[in-house]
Parts: sequence; C-alpha cells; structure tokens
Amino acid sequence: MSSLAGRSLVSIDELTGPELIGLLKLAEAMADAIGFAGSKGPTSPLTPLDRILAAMFYEPSTRTRLSFESAMLRLGGQVTGFAQSTSSSAAKGESLADSVRIVSGYADVIVVRHPLEGAARVAVRASKVPVINGGDGAHLHPTQTLTDLFLLLRRKGAIEGLRIGLLGDLRHGRTVHSLAPALARLGAEVLCIAPPQLGMPRPVLKRVAEATGSPPMEVDRVDDVLHLLDALYVTRIQTERFEEPGGHQEVAGAYRVDSALLANAPADMLVMHPLPRVDEIDPAVDDDPRAVYFEQADGGVPVRMALIATMLGLHALPKAKVTERALKPLEPVTGVSGHCDNERCVTMHEPYVPPEFVTYADDTVCAYCERPIHGTGE
Ligand code: NCD
Repeated sequence: MSSLAGRSLVSIDELTGPELIGLLKLAEAMADAIGFAGSKGPTSPLTPLDRILAAMFYEPSTRTRLSFESAMLRLGGQVTGFAQSTSSSAAKGESLADSVRIVSGYADVIVVRHPLEGAARVAVRASKVPVINGGDGAHLHPTQTLTDLFLLLRRKGAIEGLRIGLLGDLRHGRTVHSLAPALARLGAEVLCIAPPQLGMPRPVLKRVAEATGSPPMEVDRVDDVLHLLDALYVTRIQTERFEEPGGHQEVAGAYRVDSALLANAPADMLVMHPLPRVDEIDPAVDDDPRAVYFEQADGGVPVRMALIATMLGLHALPKAKVTERALKPLEPVTGVSGHCDNERCVTMHEPYVPPEFVTYADDTVCAYCERPIHGTGE
C-alpha cells in the first residue's frame, strides 16, 4: 500500500487518486476529532507529540500559515518559523537552499511559501525532511486544492460528475492551477470563466485535456454558464503578480458575485473562494446558504492535520477506491540548450539551481515553473 511517510508535496499531481481520497477520508476523521464545523469541540484530550513543523513564509499569508500551525498544534506537536522574509536570513542574502537546509535540521516537516515559481522544488532538493508547498508564486498551491476537494466531498458527496466553474484571475492564481487538473482527474468537469487577459495558462488547459480528452470550455461571462454549475469557485485578481505594474487596473471590477447574480444560479450551487476576497464577492452574499467559503477555509485545519500526520508516518492512509483519469507522468528531457525565460521562475533568481526540463502535456517545460521552454531544441 502506498504511504506518504517521508514524502514531500510540491504538486497535487504527485498524489494518486486513492492517496488523494484517502487523505480526505483521514481529514474527515480529524475533523471529527477536533470538533469541526459546529460540533461541540474536541472529543479527546491532546496527546503531546514530539515533532516540530517549521513554517518558512516569504510571502503574506493568513489562512495557509495559521491553519498549518493550528493543525500541528492540534496534533500535539510544536511549531517554529517566520512569517516574512525580512525576519529571516534572506534579508542578509542567504540563498533559499541554504536557509531550507538549515531549517531542516531544526524541524521534522517544513511548509514553505515563496513568491518565486518553482521555489518549493528547490526547497525539497535542499531539505533533509519532507517539504510541503504552501504556494510558490503564481505556480501551484496543492494544500489549497486538498481543502477545496474536502469541502466539495462534504457538501456534494462525490467529485465525479460535478461541474465546477472557475471564475476570475485564472492566469495568475495558483489555487486554480492545482485545482483544475485535480478535478479533471477525479471525473469533474471544469469550466474556465475569465476576462481574456486573465485566461487559464495553456499548459494547465492541456493538462486538463490530458485527463478528460478535450480542453475545458472557456467563457468570459459568468452569466452564460451559471445555470450549468454545481459550484462556482471565485478567485481575486492577483494584483501583485501582473507583469507590468498597474496592469491589474485594466481588469479591475471585471466580475462580481452579488445577490442579483445568484438570483439566476441553481439553488444548490455552492459559492467557493480560497480567500482572501477583495471586492469580487459582495459581503451581502455571506448570508446566502450557498456561500461556503468560510466553511471551506475552516477545513484547512483537518486537511493539513491529515497531511502532516501521514507525512510524519503517524497515520496510515485509509484505503480508497477511485476511478481516476490518468495524467501522463512528467518525464525528464535532456539535451535542451534553451533556458527558462520566465522572470518569476526560481531558476532566474537562485543561480545555483541547475536548469532541468520535463515533458508536461507534450510540451518541454521548465521542471521548476512548468512554463514551456522556447529553446533551440535538442
Ligand atoms: C490563496 C493564495 O495564497 O494563493 N490564498 C490561500 O492560500 N487561501 C489565494 C489568493 O491569495 O488569492
């Protein structure tokens, strides 16, 4: 049987379907144990656990960092770390790899969040202990996907057959880059709803198509597809990730979920959001029973408890039977003479990282940021 003990997690694609669903089952047991979602509170006293989680956060975070810390504390363990790069030795010029190497001597598991795409992969290479990607730039956010799937399973009973609309800044939002292929693998249909400038990156569209046989539907107006949806997954405009400063102004206010919009939505359509929201969901929507984003965020604790516990070898994964649409494994590509030209890729900023390439949905991509390489070929 597969085990997550000792493994790291950079991309949700590294988990098989049974591992994913097994984790969500364990998260359900954790939720019961801590008295999640309106029940009476913890059912059993904490047993101290002689393990330490280090949170290395080089980018702002509320939910991810605090829910990881809360999860470790709920498991009985201890936490250490930093919440901003200015309070770490990065401010003195230390490389990411060196910092991770050091912290891996102080902790049993590390969660790292970083503004550069591919940073989590660098951290895995440098660490002596398992590393969890807590978000690497505009690239990936696998534990948010686990949290999203947990909510969907709880509320809808199954992932297979669901139709999920992803709305907003699909170009720069890392949560949807992880979520879309995972939904596709588990048999859900993904619809991409975004202004043309904010569309889903081509590699992610191709990855979804790999699982389902055809690329997802792309539309720019939510009204056109609202009636089809089991869930609308709203995301904010990622103001801080635009290539040109101020580029977000062109798309500001391009979409908004409010009571008028929801008047035309199915009665059982969930409104999800990884949060934080800015102005894309009217606070008046919070009282609508379809609005589940706060419950979704609460699920981050039991989900991360399940992940940490299995990675530390404290819990076996519950068995799960899953019909999965397979994704092609990423195969190493050698002999590429080009280099990654993505300004936000970790290989551009941490010069000691050797370039590496893999096949991703039939393209040759940078193994760190997964952007296609415009090199001179093999
Ligand atoms: C998201 C993130 O950091 O990518 N937040 C989160 O972790 N829940 C979404 C966002 O910042 O828009």
